[in-house]
Amino acid sequence: MSDLDTQAITERTLDDYRANAEAFRDGTRDHDVSQNIEALLRHIRGEAPFRILDLGCGPGRDLKTFTALGHVAVGLDGAEPFVRMAREATGCEVLHQQFLALDLPAASFDGIFANAVLFHVPSRELDGVLRKLHSALRPDGVLFTSNPRGDNQEGWSGTRYGAWYDWPTWRQCLEKAGFVELEHYYRPAGLPRDQQPWLASVWRRG
Ligand SMILES: C[S@@+](CC[C@H](N)C(=O)[O-])C[C@H]1O[C@@H](n2cnc3c(N)ncnc32)[C@H](O)[C@@H]1O
Repeated sequence: MSDLDTQAITERTLDDYRANAEAFRDGTRDHDVSQNIEALLRHIRGEAPFRILDLGCGPGRDLKTFTALGHVAVGLDGAEPFVRMAREATGCEVLHQQFLALDLPAASFDGIFANAVLFHVPSRELDGVLRKLHSALRPDGVLFTSNPRGDNQEGWSGTRYGAWYDWPTWRQCLEKAGFVELEHYYRPAGLPRDQQPWLASVWRRG
């Protein structure tokens, strides 16, 4: 896979979100991810309010929640319609950046919330992205990730690109980038494993 391919993958995936931004907002507005938000916040040390980066914030549902809880939330997304929607819906600072070209200040966030986003990063780029997130966290800062899981295959799902990891492989990727595991779980809660497509995990900057 060349750099050009990687760029094309990113753009095609973002084009899908750009074209379907309103439908995505309306379809995900009521998704309950409070379990994930709590999992991030309970591991952050020190006194609130915390500075949280919502990576791939989409239209801003979770920025709104973090703000309502009294934290300082900053969004980031590569799809312009989402950047606009998230700013309008929340009044938060929202960075327009792509995951493969992150430009974040060092040691500046207590927590990073990556809900349903990192699986869009082609596997060969994942380590670089994770290392940038690692250095954007304060020394004992916390990263939350949730992704649809799989058997470590990657490719196109319609016009969105994805990589679907199992737990051992995901853990290996995060540990390689310097993170230390805090917890992991499967979602939705309370169902048999074969009905839990989501793998959530929480990490401390090591
Ligand atoms: C499945 S949505 C998740 C949105 C939100 N976090 C949520 O939980 O509803 C994936 C998000 O990642 C963004 N995204 C995908 N690939 C990206 C890339 N390469 N750079 C920046 N944002 C990207 C999309 O625009 C979209 O907002």
